[in-house]
Amino acid sequence: MKNNRILIFDTTLRDGEQCPGASMNLREKLEVARQLARLKVDVIEAGFPVISDGDFTAVQTIAKEIKGPIIAGLARCVPKDIDAAGEAVKPAGKKGRIHVFLATSKIHREFKLGKAQDEIVRLAVRGVEQAKKYVDDVEFSPEDGSRTEPEFLVRVCKEVIAAGATTINIPDTVGWAVPGEFGELISHLYSEVPEFQSGKAIISVHCHNDLGLAVANSLAAVQAGARQVECTVNGIGERAGNASLEEVVMAMKTRADVYKGFKCGVNTKEIVKSSRLVSRMSGLTVQRSKAIVGENAFAHSSGIHQDGILKKRETYEIVDPEDVGWGQTELPLTKHSGRAAVNARLKHLGFKMTDTDVQAIFARFKEIGDKKKFVYDDDLLTLVEGHITEVPETWSLEYVQVTTGNQAIPTATVRLVKAGKKKSEKAETMEDAGIGDGPVDAALKAIDRLTTTHGVLKDYNIRAVSQGKDALGEVTVKVDFGDGDLVTGKGAGTDVIVASAKAYLNAVNRFMSSESRKGKAKMQP
Ligand code: KIV
Ligand code: ZN
Repeated sequence: MKNNRILIFDTTLRDGEQCPGASMNLREKLEVARQLARLKVDVIEAGFPVISDGDFTAVQTIAKEIKGPIIAGLARCVPKDIDAAGEAVKPAGKKGRIHVFLATSKIHREFKLGKAQDEIVRLAVRGVEQAKKYVDDVEFSPEDGSRTEPEFLVRVCKEVIAAGATTINIPDTVGWAVPGEFGELISHLYSEVPEFQSGKAIISVHCHNDLGLAVANSLAAVQAGARQVECTVNGIGERAGNASLEEVVMAMKTRADVYKGFKCGVNTKEIVKSSRLVSRMSGLTVQRSKAIVGENAFAHSSGIHQDGILKKRETYEIVDPEDVGWGQTELPLTKHSGRAAVNARLKHLGFKMTDTDVQAIFARFKEIGDKKKFVYDDDLLTLVEGHITEVPETWSLEYVQVTTGNQAIPTATVRLVKAGKKKSEKAETMEDAGIGDGPVDAALKAIDRLTTTHGVLKDYNIRAVSQGKDALGEVTVKVDFGDGDLVTGKGAGTDVIVASAKAYLNAVNRFMSSESRKGKAKMQP
């Protein structure tokens, strides 16, 4: 008899963070992990500890702080990776998991690893045995599982289970699978490996979205016997991303008639909050028409639909927006709100702030409170984000002044302050001007001249953070400074030119403090 509890394994902080331009600092990861705990996911994959000191510390800190979910660290079947993962998840005690992976498909064996099947099995078994010395809870992933010969996959599953693995995750690493076929593969494994039937080990799936089928494949796998689904908030992840957590969970809940008896422990009312937080912390905006969490997911514009909804919501709405946490906005704050009110709202939004944090955020709150009538939750989130991004401010903006118009050559004058390298060194003030295709382009050109960087703007996104004509404008840029990596920068303000200059400078500062990021990109799976 199959157990029908479906475990949700969230890999936003590992696979999700592999998305170009999505890297998060420790503080940002911790805020996401806290929210994932409130969302009640079963497992948080917190990172890949061997990859950098930053990843190690993030996994270790999350393992120490977050109570409830299992905390997993990823490792290749390489002794130093497994040691790093074992040390990093140690503070989680019995709730620590090591997730080891090794490619098994013919194409990966021949072209990437240069190893025969027997050698792959030997390394996989040795990896699991080493991980078992640190934790009871070991997960093994045969990378590119969906393109592996099914009989070889059966052999690998049996051997790693005998070595102590209790979760076998079948990744569709390159998003190759289609639902019927993937479901058949999972059924085949279930029927060929007795430990899946006895419950000694469970099947997990990890689907990528290259053909837009990650959620469909995950659901087909659940019907075929998988009992853990690996996914990310907003579906972020390598290339086209991973299966989206909110879609998997809400499909099972909404179509309970099809996914009969399956239960997952996610608190769906925390979904929208989680989506917004991940979007802010990762700098990846959510597509407006994205299912469940996109701005338009519950917006009905056609008159016929609106009429139907008013008569009976279910005519055109299959998910109750309240079930996923839409519409829980509260009265906005104003410039008259005191520190205690701001602190209370921060707590309500789920942030754990020290007095120093609250003081800094309150100071920024007062600045925007003078310019805006109402300060909404989203405005506050922008302030929190600016505060916890923690990029050393080598360069900061003193002023930007632009001349523009349909009869003028857009020109910007920018004054920047360059911080001293040491505390004892004096800051330097510099000024320059630039012309460009528009006022933003002109301002960025002037910044490039002053900072001697040559950024190519790959993406520029502006959005009103909240409602009203005086809304804060939030600019997100993705910039290539010549090394092929995309660096994200964010800036907010009531003036969009100022916000754009701040966002670009934020990317410049990130680029200048990004040494650890460089080594990391080369090793990721
Ligand atoms: O996509 C993949 O194969 C992975 C593994 C490390 C599970 O992310
Ligand atoms: Zn993956």
